[in-house]
Amino acid sequence: MRILGIETSCDETAASIIEVDERRLAVCASVVNSQVDIHATYGGVVPEVAARHHVTNMMPLLEIAFSKSQSSLAGIDAIAVTQGPGLAGALMVGLETAKVLAWSQGCTLVPVNHLFGHVWSWLLPAVGNETQYEVTFPHLSLIVSGGHTELVLVRGWGQYEVLGRTLDDAVGEAFDKVAKILQLSYPGGPAIARAARLGKRDAYELPQPLLHDKSDNFSFAGLKTAVLYQHRNIGRSDSAYVADMAASFEAAAIQVLVTKLERAVVRTGIRHVSVVGGVSANQYLRERLLVSLPTNVKLWLPELTYTGDNAAMIALAGYISLVREGREVKNFFSLSAQPNLEVF
Ligand code: KG4
Ligand code: ZN
Repeated sequence: MRILGIETSCDETAASIIEVDERRLAVCASVVNSQVDIHATYGGVVPEVAARHHVTNMMPLLEIAFSKSQSSLAGIDAIAVTQGPGLAGALMVGLETAKVLAWSQGCTLVPVNHLFGHVWSWLLPAVGNETQYEVTFPHLSLIVSGGHTELVLVRGWGQYEVLGRTLDDAVGEAFDKVAKILQLSYPGGPAIARAARLGKRDAYELPQPLLHDKSDNFSFAGLKTAVLYQHRNIGRSDSAYVADMAASFEAAAIQVLVTKLERAVVRTGIRHVSVVGGVSANQYLRERLLVSLPTNVKLWLPELTYTGDNAAMIALAGYISLVREGREVKNFFSLSAQPNLEVF
């Protein structure tokens, strides 16, 4: 089955064409137009600006995706598009484009929950490659992105249970806000990671919220606020200080993620775990996971190109929704963007 994926939930306009059946998965093209540089001047994503750029980026991007995959809209069996969660205006651009394309071709349209895109992103081979894929159930999926921090138990196709989630800020959001406090560039995650490489992880004592709480929930607002208060008290902005604070923050945030995941693995006895979403690009997180999870646990991590928002993961989640979970939408004209869509 050949699927066109479209993603416009935040500040990335993305299009992808994948080929997938019960065993085989190939990414023919995956293109992303990031608006990071535009929003960096504002220090964060401006929703109206994001939506306007999706409008101008969408058609040229689709053309690039088709040209890279040497195919055309006529060969597409289904169109998968992010329905939510995300920014309302941004989502509408992708959804309405997908509706028109599906209507013009008379093909199936699959609305996709952006979070399920991340949940399956670890399966995707590099662009231009093909893989034989296999999924083991049950498995745990830790989604760590700019908008979400959720631990999901995936029992089978279409059987998702949220075991825990953040009670306040998402972990990526905490990276972005701490970067702002330390006057690092936007987006904050990569900037903190870069600065932290030269810093001491134990330079500053910071809280590790909910570390000892028995639930699978997370909390990152207190950690961010602790950085803010210490930063004000210390009153420094030199690069040695920024490196030490970035390293101390990264250590605290990642300690919480890794310890809580490890505990859930031990408690549930589940031996297959994926860690997905923008923050899963973090090298220190990857290193800590490898040394902290029990050796008999199989860890699935997405290729770095698929950690952030992309449309290949949306196309794949669309296939899973349509074929594996049997969720077909009869009248797609009535679909609307769902900015607050959750895992359930
Ligand atoms: O999944 P994503 O691209 O978008 C959402 O669905 O939210 O995640 C974006 C988040 C941002 O908060 C960004 O700062 C963070 O992922 N991020 C990182 C790294 N790369 C991106 N956080 C920590 N370390 C990184 N290397
Ligand atoms: Zn995302």
